[in-house]
Amino acid sequence: MYLRLREEIVFKKSLLAVAAASMLTLTACGGSAGAGAAGGSGSGSDKITMGFAQVGAESGWRTANTKSVQESAKKAGVELKFSDAQQKQENQIKAIRSYIQQKVDVIAFSPVVESGWDTVLKEAKNAKIPVILTDRAVDSADKSLYKTFLGSDFVEEGKKAGEWLVADSKSATDTVNIVEIQGTTGSAPANDRKEGFAEAIKSDPKLKVIASQSGDFTRSGGKQVMEAFLKNNADIDVVFAHNDDEGLGAIEAIEAAGKVPGKDIKIITIDAVKDGMTALSNGKINFIVECSPMLGDQLMELAKKVVAGESVPERVVTEETTFTQEQAKQVLATRPY
Ligand code: AHR
Repeated sequence: MYLRLREEIVFKKSLLAVAAASMLTLTACGGSAGAGAAGGSGSGSDKITMGFAQVGAESGWRTANTKSVQESAKKAGVELKFSDAQQKQENQIKAIRSYIQQKVDVIAFSPVVESGWDTVLKEAKNAKIPVILTDRAVDSADKSLYKTFLGSDFVEEGKKAGEWLVADSKSATDTVNIVEIQGTTGSAPANDRKEGFAEAIKSDPKLKVIASQSGDFTRSGGKQVMEAFLKNNADIDVVFAHNDDEGLGAIEAIEAAGKVPGKDIKIITIDAVKDGMTALSNGKINFIVECSPMLGDQLMELAKKVVAGESVPERVVTEETTFTQEQAKQVLATRPY
């Protein structure tokens, strides 16, 4: 009798132990998503899942950025769900909604344009999925809709471009006619680079922007816009293109018009991707402000912290430099992208 009672107690104790152990396992699975997250995509592993909504494949910069994100995810053991929005906001919104439905642990995206994100970001917040902005910002007043913003200071980039022109034009006595090829209309880099450049050149009244139009951050867009500028303006001294690809398109248009890029018309661009740096070292571009696409490692680090419920800085600014023709010649061979 005593023996049976003891056996029963031992059996009940082990049942309790099994129940406690399985509760722990369940908590551990759900807990992999950490505080403030949705609990993962249901794989039950500790691996975090990131939904990444990319802008598109509009430029050399973007290709390098996509590669950086994909390689860093692999290295960091992050399962990446990737979508390409083809430069369309509605596609990015669809992708984000699908990531919410799939209950990913974290969503990262580079917004095509600055405005119009509040509704979908609120949906992510309600689903308790943290959002990280990477590369480009949104103009939402409610900063609680995303955890952090990792990327360049685009106003500063525009300023650096303008400051170079101010210094380069010091000895000029006549008006310097500038044409500006803007990035995608409504995007943070287009808005901010325009603002920074204007701010820098306003100190010198002989520097005049005589035309400004969007080339959508593409080579073909840059070429088309430059062709129109050349047709409508007989006297262009400088092109300020918001990225390398637009500048490279402008070079094609300038050469087709029988002029010498870098000499007859000076060119300033932003990015410093391999093709841009090649044109800079060949003398076809005069100055490039760097915008680094290598955001992958920092993004994965931030994502892991955010998913674990750790605090992260609300803004992480990418470190960048500038390149003259001489500097480009020195670093071209080792340029990684
Ligand atoms: O948002 C970064 C910008 O987008 C890069 O300067 C440009 O090349 C890209 O398309």
